[in-house]
Amino acid sequence: MVKRIILFASGNGSNAERICHFFRQNSTVSISGIFTNNPKAGIIKRAKKFEIEVQVFDKKEFIENQLLKKVAALKPDLIVLAGFLWKIEESWVKQFPNQIINIHPALLPRYGGKGMYGQNVHNAVKENKEKETGITIHYVNKDYDKGAIIFQKKILLTDNDSAAQIAKKVHDLEHRYFPSVIAKLLMEAPNEV
Ligand code: GAR
Repeated sequence: MVKRIILFASGNGSNAERICHFFRQNSTVSISGIFTNNPKAGIIKRAKKFEIEVQVFDKKEFIENQLLKKVAALKPDLIVLAGFLWKIEESWVKQFPNQIINIHPALLPRYGGKGMYGQNVHNAVKENKEKETGITIHYVNKDYDKGAIIFQKKILLTDNDSAAQIAKKVHDLEHRYFPSVIAKLLMEAPNEV
């Protein structure tokens, strides 16, 4: 039985690209759709080499659930937020319980919540002179960055690491671990009857 993944990305899309690359020759996993809220998102270009069309949606479609219906029609096994920056509505969590996962560029519960995304997170980590940071992959529930944690990986920081260097280290970790964590989750997911 083929497992279907739907990707959501808002910006650069390097994680989404890694995921497409990781599964490109896997006949048991299909990337059934990529969605973005940003008509200028880097993922639109990146997805071309995998011949996957990226669908752009607006706030209205998102809030009023037209998008939810469209995604549900694709019967995804897993919805993956790979740098998606809008808060997920509760209707989505109800429709896809434990089927939506997110990657966060820090060790949750630290550095999570509203406003804590992308470079903002790394700037705060630097400002607080943290000795370590990392990545968290977690289920999405109705509260920002508060769903059950699936996977975390730590890296050590030095006083010399700039916020940009911290971002690079974290991105490298994301690229290294996110696709295989997804693969593992899909293997554990029950097949449709
Ligand atoms: C990633 O670092 C991801 O963890 C972060 O956005 C970046 C997207 O990079 N997500 C969040 O901050 C969510 N709160 P990418 O577009 O190159 O994959």
